[in-house]
Amino acid sequence: MSTPAKRKAESPAPGSSPQPKPAPAGLASPTPASPERASTGPASPKAASTGPSTPGPASPKKASGASSPAAEVDTSDALTGAHWLEQEELERSEDADSSLGSDAESSTASVASSIFAYRTILGRTYHSDAATSTEYWAPNDDRHLDSLEIYYHGVELLNDFKLHMSPLKDDIERVLDIGTGKGYWAIDFADKFPNCEVIGTDISPVQPSWVPPNVRFEIDDASKPWTYAPNSFDLVHIRFLVGAIEDWDALYREAYKACKPGGWIEHYDHSPVVTSDDGSVKPGSALDTYGKLLAKAARKIGRDATLADNDTMEEGMKAAGFVNVQTKRMKMPLSPWSADKRLNDVGAYARATLNDDVEGVIQFLFSTVLGWTQEEINAFGSRVRRELLDMSIHGYYHWKYVWAQKPEDAE
Ligand SMILES: C[S@@+](CC[C@H](N)C(=O)[O-])C[C@H]1O[C@@H](n2cnc3c(N)ncnc32)[C@H](O)[C@@H]1O
Repeated sequence: MSTPAKRKAESPAPGSSPQPKPAPAGLASPTPASPERASTGPASPKAASTGPSTPGPASPKKASGASSPAAEVDTSDALTGAHWLEQEELERSEDADSSLGSDAESSTASVASSIFAYRTILGRTYHSDAATSTEYWAPNDDRHLDSLEIYYHGVELLNDFKLHMSPLKDDIERVLDIGTGKGYWAIDFADKFPNCEVIGTDISPVQPSWVPPNVRFEIDDASKPWTYAPNSFDLVHIRFLVGAIEDWDALYREAYKACKPGGWIEHYDHSPVVTSDDGSVKPGSALDTYGKLLAKAARKIGRDATLADNDTMEEGMKAAGFVNVQTKRMKMPLSPWSADKRLNDVGAYARATLNDDVEGVIQFLFSTVLGWTQEEINAFGSRVRRELLDMSIHGYYHWKYVWAQKPEDAE
């Protein structure tokens, strides 16, 4: 079971290279959608066994649904994939920096995957079309999930390992974790509140089967209408779903209906745009381009990836009817450059994650939306890694934690 203590022990020492982790005891055996949500387009066990498919290019859409439309990210500095490939090839042919050469090589050699259980794009696996027709950018293969395990440790450390921000009572009964991933938060929360039923939902069946008795997982698309009993949850929890949801307002409205009067919603998320306070993330650099192009590509398929940079979360919760809306903003260093010990460690974890699988972060959006080739993606990934190793660059992501309450006297 992946308790915080266990995961701490499994995670690499800041600054060290992460070690591959053993695969979980077995594939998740998520239960089908519970009877109360049977009409939602159910958690089909087929999702775990569907054969491969290769989707066509994503169709560009306009972002919709955000109560406060995000400003377009300015990508005029962003160079093309061909540029990054040319740079990489040029530098290799000059053998310009032998100390960094092995890093560049590893990034071009490690993308192939032989697992074809889900839809596949450029050798990476993604959620099955049988689970939902929604577009979601992150691979669900071991390489990406292992890299995220390191990241979650950084994400939790960034917020001092607080599992929740709202003032929950000890006797809460029912909690929902949307987009639960491997269920880390759900499992930790269930351990802390053993008398509370914790339901985690996701579109990929990647959850472990060895979980506390008060946790269960369902395969379900949170962007579809929910059929949970109204007024039935003490907390609806959302962590790191950036780029997953087209209409956050609609999702918050579903969460409002599902929450008990006096219950809470929490959403902890970040923007991929890389910023620096000292100008060390230069316009046109790989790190600058990375975040801006992710945001631009996400917008083309209708997703606002910059929701932690604007007030989408706060405004959406208010519009749904939530009150007592509170916000905590945090900066996540992307390498260990901070003088603050905790943030320095967070930066080490963030860098280890991108070092392991920056390709997994960019591949879906850069290939299907921006039309980059595999070679261009790999070359660009190498440049991102190099900049992350350059300790004169002080890049960070904005993270934001927003929590709010359904009024006690709500119907
Ligand atoms: C980056 S992971 C975060 C996992 C987890 N919330 C955490 O912080 O540990 C995002 C998860 O959301 C899931 N997801 C994406 N779109 C979804 C949707 N429409 N409904 C439910 N889950 C979704 C993905 O499959 C993925 O497992």
